Amino acid sequence: MCGIIGCVAEEPVAGILLEGLRRVEYRGYDSAGMATISGGRLGVKKGAGRVSEIEGRHRMSSMLGSTGMAHTRWATHGGVTDANAHPHASCRETVAVIHNGIIENYIPLRKALRAKGHRFKSETDTEVIAHIVEDEYKRLGDPLKSTLAAVKKLKGQYAIAVLFQDRPDVMTGARKDAPLIVGVGKGMTFLASDVLAFIGYTDRTIFLDNYEVVEITKDSVRIVGLDGKKVKREPNQVAWELSDVSKSDYAHYTLKEINEQPRTVVSAAVQDQEKLEEFAQAVRKAKSLYITASGTSYHAGLLMKFRLNKEAKLRADVVVAGELKEHTEFLGKGSVVVALSQSGETADVMEAVKEAKKHGAKVYSIVNAAGSTLARESDGVLLLNCGPEVGVAATKSFTAQVVVANLVVDAVLGRKHPNGLAELSDAVAQALKCEGQVQELVRQYRDRPDFYFVARGYESPVAMEGALKLKELSYIHAEGMPASELKHGTLALIEKGTPVVVINPSGPIHAESLSNAEELKARGADVIGISDENDEVYRHYIHVPRVQPKFAPIVEAIPLQLLAYHMSVARRNDPDYPRNLAKSVTVK
Ligand code: M6R
Repeated sequence: MCGIIGCVAEEPVAGILLEGLRRVEYRGYDSAGMATISGGRLGVKKGAGRVSEIEGRHRMSSMLGSTGMAHTRWATHGGVTDANAHPHASCRETVAVIHNGIIENYIPLRKALRAKGHRFKSETDTEVIAHIVEDEYKRLGDPLKSTLAAVKKLKGQYAIAVLFQDRPDVMTGARKDAPLIVGVGKGMTFLASDVLAFIGYTDRTIFLDNYEVVEITKDSVRIVGLDGKKVKREPNQVAWELSDVSKSDYAHYTLKEINEQPRTVVSAAVQDQEKLEEFAQAVRKAKSLYITASGTSYHAGLLMKFRLNKEAKLRADVVVAGELKEHTEFLGKGSVVVALSQSGETADVMEAVKEAKKHGAKVYSIVNAAGSTLARESDGVLLLNCGPEVGVAATKSFTAQVVVANLVVDAVLGRKHPNGLAELSDAVAQALKCEGQVQELVRQYRDRPDFYFVARGYESPVAMEGALKLKELSYIHAEGMPASELKHGTLALIEKGTPVVVINPSGPIHAESLSNAEELKARGADVIGISDENDEVYRHYIHVPRVQPKFAPIVEAIPLQLLAYHMSVARRNDPDYPRNLAKSVTVK
């Protein structure tokens, strides 16, 4: 769960690398570093802290050289220290490596390397790679061959980039179960863990597959498989643009992405009808149907299940991706697993996909990142089309998932043409107007230790989503649950002034949720109603427009996202980069 960017160019690369590093910082922000080759010497600058801090301390941008790489770390092995920051150099500092992933066999490898006289400077699993490549390079004298020989010794997950002091014209890379993308520009070639890292320079990309090793120069790309045989792959054009990854006039990406939703709920619905029909057919005909995802995407999966059950009369099990391997009794040939993921790189989701395939099931996915591992490994894919999401909190990708999941369910039901999207877009724009009211709530409740979110039926996952958003951005303890569950334990925690958000659209469950709101009020809670219909039980009321019931979670999510965002700002957190988290969780 780290960010990688490397570049071989005709011009100095430090500025390009720093810019790319800032764009992949969402992947990890414990430490950062850069290495370049200049005047026949490999230079490394790195340290613990955010990219801006390391730049302030070490002036990475002043490094010379037209070949270099940079890394932003989310620590797994070894604490957050200067020494553990990447790049890691070999003993003689002739080879440097950056890495995203986990080397599972690093302990025996390190032991063997130490026995051969290698000295280690960090506690990381990554450093072994630099030492192994150094040995192999001494033996084989070729960057690509030595990288290939080195990765054959590794167990685990990796995306790596490697620099060789005496070969400033090349950089090598390799991947297994972690993303690595080649960017093919004019007079410059990139290696990165996300297209966003180099999108300002080129939109021509080659997505590497597992077990592939690559060597780039400023104007060439050579890819081989683990058997050393050449792999032929032409670059593809990606649709994302540089403007998509700027903050515009917003203070944070998260706020920008929340405000993009009137547009993205519409773009999400633009789908290839044939692919949609194929997806729906697979769901319809599945012998057993699973939906799997993590975090926010899991909540979108729960919403999808609700309509599949209730309206399409299809049975589906929704399983958290990290747990799917424990729920395989009904998984086999003829089963379909629907996987939802913004990044398409979440390790838990990929493990679930592996498990599904092992049992002979087909995988259909709903993904934002085109070209991601999930998108490429699925039997059918529908893209979210909501543009890159940089903020760690999933916002516009959640509402886009709800739109796409609804399209699938509608297609399963034989309803081909999506309607009501213009109204939905207007309703989202209306819902965004609650920002002032939300800020007032934040002023009142910013110091409360706990928040609760409850709802019934189709909206229950929205309550869970509201709690997840608030926890991750504000660090306030929050729980979301079906309102019916309150009396089975949680009511004991309600005291005078406890804020409880009740998501309660008009319709069949409205009255029951109001009763729960009354119970909460009677025990001293400050009930915050989110609904298209006001009621005197609410101490605070946030109005959201009435929409078709299947779209209600979309408009209800807006005040919840704004609440989490403003709470984060009020508590002086960084809403784009919440502590201990990363956007793309590529470790299990
Ligand atoms: O990229 P994915 O949708 O697979 O990510 C899954 C979760 O890690 C993600 O939704 C996470 O829960 C978000 N940070 C929540 O806002």
